[in-house]
This record gives sequence, structure tokens and C-alpha cells, in this order.
Amino acid sequence: MDRRNFIKSSLLAGASTLLASRGLRANSSSSQEQVPGAMAISEIETAHFPSGFLWGMASAAYQVEGAWNIDGKGESIWDRFSHTVGKIKGAAMADVSCDQYHRYKEDVAILKRLNQKSYRFSTSWARIQPTGTGPVNQKGIDYYSRLTDTLLDAGIRPFCTIYHWDLPQGLEERGGWPNRDLAGYFADFAGILAKTLGDRITTWAPFNMPWTFTYYGYGVGVFPPGKSNFEQFLKAAHTVNLAQGEAFRAIKAASSKATVGSAYGMAPAYPKTESEADRAAAARYHAMNNVYFLNPAMTGDYPKAFAGETPYEAMGYKPGDDKIMRVTLDWLGFHYYTRRIVSNAVGISQSGNAGHFGTETEGEGGSSSRDPLTQIHVEMPTEGPLTEAGLEIWPRGIYDLVMQISGEYNHPIIEISENGCCYLDSPDETGRVPDTRRIAFHRQILAELSRAIAEGARVRAYHAWSLVDNFEWADGYTQRYGLTYVDFRSQKRTVKDSGLWYGRVAAANRLGV
Ligand code: FCB
Repeated sequence: MDRRNFIKSSLLAGASTLLASRGLRANSSSSQEQVPGAMAISEIETAHFPSGFLWGMASAAYQVEGAWNIDGKGESIWDRFSHTVGKIKGAAMADVSCDQYHRYKEDVAILKRLNQKSYRFSTSWARIQPTGTGPVNQKGIDYYSRLTDTLLDAGIRPFCTIYHWDLPQGLEERGGWPNRDLAGYFADFAGILAKTLGDRITTWAPFNMPWTFTYYGYGVGVFPPGKSNFEQFLKAAHTVNLAQGEAFRAIKAASSKATVGSAYGMAPAYPKTESEADRAAAARYHAMNNVYFLNPAMTGDYPKAFAGETPYEAMGYKPGDDKIMRVTLDWLGFHYYTRRIVSNAVGISQSGNAGHFGTETEGEGGSSSRDPLTQIHVEMPTEGPLTEAGLEIWPRGIYDLVMQISGEYNHPIIEISENGCCYLDSPDETGRVPDTRRIAFHRQILAELSRAIAEGARVRAYHAWSLVDNFEWADGYTQRYGLTYVDFRSQKRTVKDSGLWYGRVAAANRLGV
């Protein structure tokens, strides 16, 4: 079966199972707004969430804070990268970005106005330890302390991601993540945070999307430090797994109230054909892209991500590392943006760093066979509509992913740490931002999430990416994911129609608002 037929047949099979299980039949009158991989409109209207569900929004330090060299902050690899000509679209920098460092009160007020119960932000390591090790810069701690207090005063849970990609440049100069010593330095940093903020912050995730920053940074070089060497990626990823375990213990030792989870990037992987080889390739994608950092924490073992044996030597694995990596996370957080179609790449020529689609690196035409060891060929399908970042909208993917992870890890507590879409809508002549496509996106995905919850998945939170438009990494300011529009010339914030809608959903706990 070719890809198009596979998708069509799986779509039809999925739709008919769903409809049959609910005793409903397809309603052609709703087909106008109906997108493939989404529920019927009438079902979306009635979708609801458990009481106490944590509605939230997410951001990351480098993307929103600005103040890149203020109050003693050191240089990060993203500062260095964005200050290097040719690395970022439009030669953009995040020196000011949304200036949340100075405008956090205004941003927290928006969260409160929109009835949010959780704000996921990250800490800038170089703000707290300017070169990555050594004495604490108190002004850095003071900033996160002020932010935390402002959130708590507004009745919003602070969810702290400790590392969202902005490594202190000083540590890159010591070899970066491929240097195993970084596991200990990271644990020291995590311990400092838990000691100073752990009386008020109880929700911690050590890393945002560890596969992405290790693979993009060291495997294909589209992110800093811009290296493209698969063995360096393997080493970096192993250090991060050690760092996750060490940080878990450091946080728990410093704060008895701490709960530690994750903020992994995940995409459900569907085999391109029914063949054994493609199914195995999709399983390798899942192991490498989705659970390469989760499985070592939960079990001490690497998942089977490679076509051959796990390359322990190339990874820098030492006897006893399983015990360092193993830490049973209190809850699992992961992002959902889109899905992947995966096939076996044996015999296909390798093309590692051809293109960049926001959350994934692919070859031209949306496909690639990425490296010699996983031997997978990955495609981003285009059956569903595409966002303005070129990602396919496939609402059912979140249901499939939540059910898969729930089944594989014994029904853990789950938080959706990010989900969102890029659309470039801007204020109209009345000052409103009518971003109806973003509303439709979140509605369809949330409906699928509520279906997973109704079927027993223990999902307790959902974070929309993002509170405000911000610096979108290598894409600079060419992509807007915010539920609040930011005019980067004046820093004026305008809550988009999607933000107002999301605020009503948060208040009502249901989608029919
Ligand atoms: C995720 C990142 C986040 C943002 C969104 C669009 O991969 O975690 O920082 O860039 O994509």
C-alpha cells in the first residue's frame, strides 16, 4: 500500500471505529469544518474536562525574556548563535524579544485574566550561573523568585522547566553536552534552583525536548553549537540522560515538596505500510524520538532505537550508568504538535540535515533518512491541513500518543506540556486579532484529549504554546505561536481571539463555549 492509501485507509478505519463505538453515523453537513483526523463538530461541542483540570500556557526563557546581558547574566549558546550572521532567519536576535524579564507582571496579568491555572516557564542557566558553574548570581534567582510570587498571587501554579536549550557558552567551551561532566554541573544548577525556589515551586521538569536540542545541536547542526556528527549526538544524549537522573536526585534532596516530571517532544509514528520492516522502523522512531529519555528514567534501560545493537561504546556508556539514569518520574509531560509516517530506510541514501520544520528536521519534500544507526525514513504527511509553519494538523495524534504512553508506562499522570500552531494573524483595523484557525486547531486537539481522558488516561494538564508571540529559534520572528499578539516594535500585547476563547474554555472546563 502506498502512503496516500495507507493514510486514507487508516483514517477511514479510525473514523468508522470511533463512530461505530458511539452509535453515530457520519454527518456530511458538518464536513465544511471537518478536517481529517478530527472528531465530528457536534462531538467537539460537548467535549468536557474533569474538575480541577490544569489549563495552562507555556514559554521558554530564551524565547521571551530578552535582557540577554542584564543583571549579571552570562552568554548562552543561543546568544552566541543568534549573534552570528547567517544562523537565524531575518538575522533576528532575542536580545529583547518580548522583554518578559521586565514585563512579567503584565504577562502574568494576562494569564490571570484568561483563567489560567498553570504557567510553564524555563530558567536561564546563564542568568543564575553565568558560566555554568561556580557562584550564584543572586539577581538571577531574584528574577525567578519575583516571577514565582507573582504567579502564586494570581492563583497560578509555577511549572519550572530547568533547561530549555540555552546552555551557558562557558560550558560549550568545555565540550558541551557530549562532555559527561555536564551531568554533574546540571545537577548542581538544578539543586540551586530547588533550594532557593523549592519552597514555592513544586513542579519541575529537568529538560525541554532533549532529543531535539541534542540532535539539532550536535547531530545535524541547525541549532547551536552547530555540530553535525552522529557520535557527538549519541554522547550528548547519554550525558543528558545521566543529567536527568542526577538532577532528579538533587531536586528531591533540596526540596521535600518537589515533584519531578518531564517536557519531552513526541510525535506518534505510524508505519508507512503494513510490512514488518516499516512497523519495526516506526517502533525505532518511537524509541529514538519519543522515549529515548523517558525509558532510561523509568527502567534504567535504553529503548531499542537502533537497527543493530545499542552502540554503548560510542555513547560513552559506563557500567553502572543504568543506576544513575533510573529515577521514577512523578508524572510525565510531553508536547504534541504533529505526527510522522515512518518507513525502513535500509538501502536509502542518507541525508541528515536538509530542512527544518519547526519541531523536526526533515529532508526535502518533508522526508529524510536520517542516520546510519536508526535507519528510519521519516515523512511529515500532508493529508491534513498545514499550519503556517508547515506542520500537518492531525488532532487524532494526541489521542493515539496519550493512549500509547499510558499503556507503555503503567498509566502515569500525564501533562501536555506544549501544543500549539503557527499562524501569522495580526490586529485588524479595530485592534482585534481574529485568529479563527488557531481556535479550530486547539478545539480539535482538545476534543481528542478529552476522549483519551474519558477512556481512562490520567491527563491532568494542558499547556498551550504559547502565552505570547516570541522568538521562534532558528526561524526568528517569522513564526507566531502566541495566543497573545506582540508588536515587537512597541512591546504592546493584544490577546488574540484564540486567547479569549481559551480563557472561556478554562473557566468552563468544556469546549462548547
Ligand atoms: C517546541 C519548542 C518550543 C517552541 C515550539 C513551537 O518544539 O519546545 O520552544 O519552539 O516548539
